This record gives sequence, C-alpha cells and structure tokens, in this order.
Amino acid sequence: MAVVSADRIYSLEEQKDMLYNLEHYHEMPTKYMYFGIGSKRWINITRSRLEANASKDIHILERVLLTQKVSSIFDSLSAYGYKNYNIIDFGCGDGSPTYPIFQYLKTNRPNAKLRYNPIDISTDLLAAASKNIKEGFGVFGERNKWDLDIGNFAHITKKLSKPKMGDLYLFLGATLCNMPDMQQDLVHFRESMEQDDYFLLGAELLKERDVATIISSYYNVREIFDIMMTAFEYLGARRSYFAYRTTFNKEKAQIEGYMIPDKDIRIKLAGKDYTFEKDAPVMCFRSVRFTTERLAGLFERAGFRIEMFTTSRENKYALVLAQPAI
Ligand SMILES: C[S@@+](CC[C@H](N)C(=O)[O-])C[C@H]1O[C@@H](n2cnc3c(N)ncnc32)[C@H](O)[C@@H]1O
Repeated sequence: MAVVSADRIYSLEEQKDMLYNLEHYHEMPTKYMYFGIGSKRWINITRSRLEANASKDIHILERVLLTQKVSSIFDSLSAYGYKNYNIIDFGCGDGSPTYPIFQYLKTNRPNAKLRYNPIDISTDLLAAASKNIKEGFGVFGERNKWDLDIGNFAHITKKLSKPKMGDLYLFLGATLCNMPDMQQDLVHFRESMEQDDYFLLGAELLKERDVATIISSYYNVREIFDIMMTAFEYLGARRSYFAYRTTFNKEKAQIEGYMIPDKDIRIKLAGKDYTFEKDAPVMCFRSVRFTTERLAGLFERAGFRIEMFTTSRENKYALVLAQPAI
C-alpha cells in the first residue's frame, strides 16, 4: 500500500475515537477498515463472494431470500397507498445487496418514482454505491456520511423524506452483527423513522455445528486479513508486524478477530503517541450470530413491531421487516 498519511484518511474526531477505543478496550473499531483502500478491498470481497455463487455465503443467502420476499415487502409499503419509493440504504457497501429490490421495482412497478439514498461512514463506499445504482438502474438520490455509533440520523432522514414516497430503510449484509452496541443501533434507526416507514434488516443466525467452518473461513482468507489491516497500515504499522487470530466467544455468541503485534509498535494518533504492545491482542472485528429469539427480542426492546421474520432454508440467515411500534 502506498504510504498515505492517516490525517488524509481519518478526521481528527475519528482519530480521537480510535485512540479512545484502543486505550480503553484494546479495540480498533471495525468501521475504520472501510476507508480509502479499504473500500476497494471490501468491493473486491463482495464481488468475489457474489461471483463465486457460494450458496453458503451470506451475500448469496441474503440475495436469494430478498429475491423471494421482495414482492411481499413492497405489498406492505403499498398498503399505505405508496406507489413511489425512497430507499435509504444504511451501511451501503457497494450497493449490490439492493439489486434484487431495484430489479423487482424496475420489472414490476415500472412507473414508480424511485430514489436511492445511501448512508455510510465511508465516503468511498457512498460514492461506489451511488455510482452502481445510478449506472445499473438509473436511480439516484442523496448520499450522506454518518457514523451510527454517534447517534440517530433523524436530521438526515427528515430531509430525505419526500411527500407521497414510501420510505424503506435497509441495513443489509449482516452489518448489525459487526456493531459494538446492536440494541442502541436499532434504537437509532427507530428514532430516525416515521410511523409508516419500514425497516429491513439482514442478520446471520447461529448454527453451533457450523462454528468451526465459519472460523476457518475468516481465519484463512488472505483478503480478510488485508482489509482488517487497513486502519493499522494508515497509522504506519506494517502488516508483517502482526499475526491474525480468530476465535468464537461462546458467551457473546460472536466470532472475534484479533491482530497480535510481534513487537512494540509506536504510532501517532490524534497528535499523541500510542504503542501497540508486543503480544497484546487488538480486537478488530466481531460478528454476532443470533438465535431467532434473540434477534426478535432486540427489535421488540428497541420499540419495533415485526411484520415479517423470514429465514433461509437451513436457518442460517434471517430477513426482518419491521415498523416503529405505535
Ligand atoms: C459488512 S459491510 C456491509 C456492506 C453492505 N451492506 C453489504 O452487505 O455488502 C459494512 C458497511 O457498513 C458501514 N459501516 C460500518 N460501521 C458503520 C458505522 N458505525 N456507521 C456507518 N456505517 C458503518 C461500512 O462502511 C460498510 O459499508
């Protein structure tokens, strides 16, 4: 990777947030791996997963499930009389998880007016998603940078909302499973929505017997190590200084990824010195696996009413359609 200063990639606020997480939790928040070259790494991962057409991969499971359910999702929105749709895609990646939605709308509701509004922490992924949806389907809208950890985004959705357009919020690709405070994040969504808006979430489910396979798929893949190194590299820490380890945390039902330095590595962050200490693991990734009960409970406690809860054939993936409860 060409040497680029961290200051060109991360704002001072973002660097302070990184420093806080490193000092207090020994954690490099996952969200920072999607910046700069990390966005290209993510796009390559997404592409290779979709091209491999691996039926066990979550991108494919979600795509198949969404293709099956998309018409009933829009039947729900149409029940409010909406014929035009505002798609608000949070954690958009390259936008490809939304393709079944736009394919359905273009074919089955050709007269519908559509808008596509991605929201993401990564400006590079916002640009990629907007471009893909505009080129692929001729649909565009507004893009907004926002960090879900900071709070709700009602100030953004207020201006995105259009008269006579039904709002569908998306949080796809099991992104919720990577978030440090999932319950709070769902509350942020609910607070950003109006009463007749809909929210569609994709999440991975737990199959205890699959844990070993899942771990080895994260552990051995070079491209996963590459993307996880993104923020470390921007901070000047070379990849050859780190080993990568994945474990399954039974208590939290989550897969965890750690970078382990093989020597002390001093870096500058937010104008301060910070040292990655030899052999001290830095958590850089988590991915929670839900049971259906746990996932439904999160929605209910966050103040949602669940309209549809559907799972893939072997119960590995779930799509949940919900609305703010009255
Ligand atoms: C695992 S990727 C999933 C992308 C896409 N939904 C997909 O399924 O391919 C996570 C996405 O969420 C974004 N993201 C992660 N943490 C975020 C946060 N705290 N606030 C806003 N966006 C975040 C990343 O930049 C990235 O686009």
